[in-house]
Amino acid sequence: MISKAGLGSRTEARGWIGAGRVAVNRRVILNPDHWVDMDRDKVLFDGKPLVRKEHVYLVLYKPKGYLTTYKDPENRPTVYDLLSDVGTFVVPVGRLDLDTSGLLLLTNDTQFAERIMNPDFHVAKRYLVKANRRLTDEELARLRQGIELDDGPTRPATVTRIRDSEKYTHFEITLTEGRNRQVRRMVEALGATVLKLVRVAIGPLGIGSLEVGKWRYLEPRECAALGPQRSLARKASTRLT
Ligand code: URA
Repeated sequence: MISKAGLGSRTEARGWIGAGRVAVNRRVILNPDHWVDMDRDKVLFDGKPLVRKEHVYLVLYKPKGYLTTYKDPENRPTVYDLLSDVGTFVVPVGRLDLDTSGLLLLTNDTQFAERIMNPDFHVAKRYLVKANRRLTDEELARLRQGIELDDGPTRPATVTRIRDSEKYTHFEITLTEGRNRQVRRMVEALGATVLKLVRVAIGPLGIGSLEVGKWRYLEPRECAALGPQRSLARKASTRLT
C-alpha cells in the first residue's frame, strides 16, 4: 500500500515500517507483511494519512549503459537517474539489459505491469539486432521456429533480415515472451553474439519521436491499445508494503 501510494519502493517501505514510521488504526506496525483493509483501516505514515495515488504510465527510451534497477551497489547509472522529474514512484515493466537500449514502460499500476509481463497475454516486443557475423537463412529460420535454451524452447518468433554488411547481419525479431537476456541467448545458441540490441516496439507502441534518455506519459488510448484491461476489482485487503 505504501509503494502504491507512490512514496517509494517496497524495499524502502519495509525499512520505514521497521523504523516505526507507519501506524494502522493508531497502533505502530513493525511487521511489513501486515495486511490492511483499505476501506476500513486508517494508515498513517509519519503521522499523515496515506492516500492512494492515481495510476501513472510512462515510456522511457532507455539508453545503453543504464541499469533497469532502483539502486546499484556499484553506483552505476540506473533508469531512475532519468526519471527524477516523475513525481511518483514507478516500477519498470520488465527489464532491459545494461547494454540494451529502447522502450521501457514504467508504472505504479502493478496489475497493468503484471499483465504486460505475463507471457499468457502474448504482448509482442520487437527488437532490432546487430549480430557479430553474417547469419544464414537457416540460422534466422532457427530463431523463427524456436531455439532450445537452458530454460526451455523459445516460442515461434517473427524474424526479418533487414540488411547484411560485409561482416554483420542486422535483423528484426518479435517475441511474445520476455525471458532473461532472451535475444542474446538465442543468438548465442547459434554460435554468434549480439553487438547491438534496441527494443523498438512493445505491442502497438513504437519509439516514434522519443529521444534517447527521454520519457513521456502514455496517452489513455495507448494504454488501452496495449491490451484490454481486465476489470480491476479493487481489493479491500492489501499488504501494508
Ligand atoms: N533480450 C535480451 O537479450 N536483452 C534485453 O534487454 C531484452 C531482450
